[in-house]
Amino acid sequence: MTTNRPQPQRVLRGLSRRERVEQNAMSDWWHPVGWAADLTDAPRRTVLLGRTLVLWRDEAGTARCLRDLCVHRGTALSLGEVTDGRIVCPYHGWRFDGDGSCTLIPQFPPSRPVPAGAAVPAFRCEERYGLIWVCLGEPTVDIPDFPEWGAPGFRHAPCPPYTWRTSAARMVENFTDFGHLGWLHDGLLGSRDDVVVPEHTVDRRGHELRYTLTMNVPAADGVNDLDGEVGTMINTYVLSLPHVIHLRSHYHDTGRSRVLYFAAQPVDDETAIGYCYQSRDFDLDGDDKRYVAFQETLAEQDRVVVESQRPEQLPMDIADELHMKFDQVAVAYRRAFADHGL
Ligand code: FES
Ligand SMILES: [Fe+2]
Repeated sequence: MTTNRPQPQRVLRGLSRRERVEQNAMSDWWHPVGWAADLTDAPRRTVLLGRTLVLWRDEAGTARCLRDLCVHRGTALSLGEVTDGRIVCPYHGWRFDGDGSCTLIPQFPPSRPVPAGAAVPAFRCEERYGLIWVCLGEPTVDIPDFPEWGAPGFRHAPCPPYTWRTSAARMVENFTDFGHLGWLHDGLLGSRDDVVVPEHTVDRRGHELRYTLTMNVPAADGVNDLDGEVGTMINTYVLSLPHVIHLRSHYHDTGRSRVLYFAAQPVDDETAIGYCYQSRDFDLDGDDKRYVAFQETLAEQDRVVVESQRPEQLPMDIADELHMKFDQVAVAYRRAFADHGL
């Protein structure tokens, strides 16, 4: 794991007054911004909470994150290049360190120092579980745990990120909505003949919701590790605010498990990118394609309905949508959001 924790005063250096005002409660959480394997020493642009960022790896291979806006003339640094581990603006060649400080203004004679104000905001950036995470403010809690990561006997298959025209909270809520599993995903995650949601309780612990459901699932083309065509799966969820879910599905018949680690990037109010691992402790030498394709099929079925939901933002007033008892996770999720000022 590569760790980079700049000091707070360095993180905030260069933030304009306007940008400080733009920081909100969602800024103080870790958010995924891409697969670590996709980040090289070439600049990569991304958008988080409406803010455009540039990411790259420095000479030590450490992930770095700056505002994608040159302090000189507002050019996108992501159009530039990386030299000696520093990002070089494409317009006049100013060079910026991973902490945001400008180290070179080529238009200055060598004897002239770079002024202290020549800096762009830098943000906390961490690499964990094969993902790059960014926090735009002061992190409230750590990146949500993925206990099977690095554990022996598990194989992790990353799925292609999916970009939906919705909020990250709608995307997450869909992921943990039980009433739709047998209906929308008939034959894959259940059956239309059996959509009664099993009894369950939601245990709220601070920023986490924990709940367990036992369900009957079809073999789904061998993705589920069952003895027959239908089997029992015990699903244990940990939903971490704001947008991460860890789901361990334990197969009653075989004793094996499939794990999903899902994290959503809130690009802006109406765009989210989902990153998902399909992990398993069986079929360890098997092809990942089957599991990834399964996830993509489900996601595409979900995308169509979730993108139709209005408003795109999750209504935090519980009276705004008609919740049933089997929607109690959604209710608890919305209450937790409100309690955390999100
Ligand atoms: S705009 Fe970036 S160096 Fe001039
Ligand atoms: Fe779904």
